[in-house]
Formats: sequence, C-alpha cells, structure tokens
Amino acid sequence: MYRLIGKQFRKPSGILGTIISNIMIKGNSPDYDKVIPELDIRPGDSILEIGYGHGLGVHRLASGYDCMVSGIDFSELMYNMATKRNREHIDRKRVALHYGDFLTSEKIPGLYDKIFLIHVIYFWDSLDEPFSLIRKKLKEGGLLCMFMAHADFIRKMKFTKDGIFNKYSIDHVVDRLTSAGFREVHYTLDKKGYIIKCRSFNFIQPSGASPVH
Ligand SMILES: C[S@@+](CC[C@H](N)C(=O)[O-])C[C@H]1O[C@@H](n2cnc3c(N)ncnc32)[C@H](O)[C@@H]1O
Repeated sequence: MYRLIGKQFRKPSGILGTIISNIMIKGNSPDYDKVIPELDIRPGDSILEIGYGHGLGVHRLASGYDCMVSGIDFSELMYNMATKRNREHIDRKRVALHYGDFLTSEKIPGLYDKIFLIHVIYFWDSLDEPFSLIRKKLKEGGLLCMFMAHADFIRKMKFTKDGIFNKYSIDHVVDRLTSAGFREVHYTLDKKGYIIKCRSFNFIQPSGASPVH
C-alpha cells in the first residue's frame, strides 16, 4: 500500500492520484510561497516549472507577475488538472503547459530566464543528466531554483521507504550542480527543507577583466 502511495507522488494517476494531489496542494503550498520570491521575477521573464503537478505554482506566477510561464509534467492527470486551473492564462497565451517527461521530451521550446522545481529531484535516480538538460534550457546567467525536503523529513514518511524516493544529501546536490557547470550555488535550510539556487554561465569572464563600456 505504501509503495502504491509513493508511486502516486512520483506520477499521480486515477482516483488515488487526485487524492494525493489535493494533499500536495495543502502540504506544498507553503513551499511555493518560499520559492517564488527567490525567483526575483523581472518584467517579461520567461519561466519554466518542471513537475508543475496541480498547477498551483504556475497559476500564482501568471496571476501575480508580468512573466511568461511554461511547465512540463509527465502525469496526464496533473496535465489535465493544471490545464483546468490555468485555462484563462493559457487562452491569453501567458501560460504554456506541456505533457511529457522532462528527461526525454523535446517538446519544450526555447530558452528560459528562470527554471524551478519543487519536490521533484527525489524521482531522478541520477542528477547528472537532469542538471545538464536544465543548463541547456537556461539562458546565459539564467537562474535555477529548487526546493527539496530534508532527507530526515522524507525518511519520517512511510511511503518514502521503498526505493521510489532518492534521499539526496545537500552536499551531493551541490556537488552535482557544480559538476554540471552551475555557478553561484547557494542554499538555505528551514524546518522542512532546502531552497537551492544557482546560475548557468557558458562564458566566464577571466578574473580581473573589467567590463567593456
Ligand atoms: C511530488 S509531485 C510535486 C508536484 C508539485 N511540484 C508540488 O510540489 O506540489 C512531483 C511531480 O513531478 C512530476 N514529475 C516527476 N518526474 C518528472 C519528469 N521526469 N518529467 C516531468 N514531470 C515529472 C510528477 O508527475 C508530479 O506531478
């Protein structure tokens, strides 16, 4: 039973998926409250959420900020739920939601100023490929922001004990981000977990060089 519930957090489907997604709306809404201000949204920013789930985060961004929001999620149930929630913004072309696996899909067009994900990295068995793909989708200097529950917090839950959830340490995540080429990697910790921020640069100025005016 617990394995079944764990699987639903990874990819919600059916009636159980609807129940789990309502639990996520309640439980994870405060995590969106923490992450959204960290995105430091500027007018016209293009932002991608990976694993948008119920679509609450996408809706908050499109309703409260002058930005273009895209998202990708590989649960058909979540795609339908998020589409319903964001119908008005989609019709106005402020939101574009995609249904597919971020790791294999070529559906998401263009490059983004900011990419964020909340409670998603546990489901990636290695972080190297996802982080490298995220870098490819970011503009020069683009921001990646993630929320990840503390490994101790995840361990307390019965449905996380069966190999579906990877319980990454913050040191491992920082190490993999750095190895993928992210720079300015910073994190903060609260009772539940970590907000991790970093930037993608392809062109590093040689140290000591002054900007050309
Ligand atoms: C635990 S839920 C989190 C949902 C929402 N971000 C929240 O915090 O409430 C994980 C979500 O990520 C999606 N997901 C997981 N791996 C994915 C992948 N490789 N590509 C796209 N979506 C993925 C799942 O379908 C699910 O909606």
